[in-house]
Amino acid sequence: MQTKLLNLKNQALALINEAENKQELERLRIQFLGRKGQINQILKDLPQLDKQEKAKLGRLTNDLKVAIQSAIKTKSQSLKTTPKKTWFDMTAPGKSPPLGHLHPISQAIEEVTRIFEHIGFTRVRYPEVDWDWYVFESLNMPVDHPARDEWETIFIDTPAHKTMGKMVLTTHTSNGQVREMERVKQPPIRMLNIGKCYRRQQDRTHTVMFHQFEGLVIDKNIGIPHLKGTLDYFAREFYGPQAKSRIRPFNFRFTEPSFEVDFSCTHCSGKGCKFCKSGWHEVGGAGLVHPNVLKAGKIDPSKYSGFAFGWGIERTYTLKPGLNIDDIRLLYSSNLNFLNQF
Ligand code: PHE
Repeated sequence: MQTKLLNLKNQALALINEAENKQELERLRIQFLGRKGQINQILKDLPQLDKQEKAKLGRLTNDLKVAIQSAIKTKSQSLKTTPKKTWFDMTAPGKSPPLGHLHPISQAIEEVTRIFEHIGFTRVRYPEVDWDWYVFESLNMPVDHPARDEWETIFIDTPAHKTMGKMVLTTHTSNGQVREMERVKQPPIRMLNIGKCYRRQQDRTHTVMFHQFEGLVIDKNIGIPHLKGTLDYFAREFYGPQAKSRIRPFNFRFTEPSFEVDFSCTHCSGKGCKFCKSGWHEVGGAGLVHPNVLKAGKIDPSKYSGFAFGWGIERTYTLKPGLNIDDIRLLYSSNLNFLNQF
């Protein structure tokens, strides 16, 4: 009897759901819940059962009645509001399922890669967790040198290596410089290293994890004009034909001379507006590779010279015209309303 009641429930709910008008619903109500309806038919045998079974079936029947009643009620309301289906257009185009897309930072990485590949750079990746040697020491920053404080470093809690020191989460993609010299051995080198970096800071313009891209060019007679030309080329390709770069004297231990790199504001084309104030946005660092770094990579500084530059993808990307993202943490908030815009 129990299975019969359950089957009846499924059947009733399916029929109610299919009903096309009020009359049909009423007919179904009588068919199932009426005095001579199907439920009562099944319950005819009830008096023969023992007390316990009676109670159990009583409960079941009650649930069934309630379920059918409420299905009828919901259906009759939806019949009121939804217009009757009269025809079905088999030729109408189907609804396509929602498609995702690459994260805006992955898109930016692809774009940066394409721009540099165009002028002969090779995209490489180097470890995200690396030895102190590659991240600092080979870059002319001996252990305990105060310049290291600039990079809010996160250290890995493992014993130090005899010659390469502690392990750290890479604070910049410059760890790829000496690694690339070791890989290529003989210049020319035209490296584009893009990777995840980590620093102990978090606010509107910083996230603990972020991405940097690093360019390194080493060949005979490489000088500042090559660096400046490359930066201007990138500015035009990434921000549009009007964009320009500017370099200002700065100090890094691994480049000499060193510069800070600015790009002209895409909102006001360098005139100065509320977004940029000065007409320029500072993005990162650059310079001519320090002879000590070339030596660390076993390249003879009397024969070869080079330039390097590097900075954050997030920052570079959020300065694109029309984006107006004033808090880069949004990029990693997994908020689809935000991400779907890109
Ligand atoms: N690594 C530097 C930073 O993270 C940027 C830089 C790269 C500077 C290459 C000079 C040359 O700030």
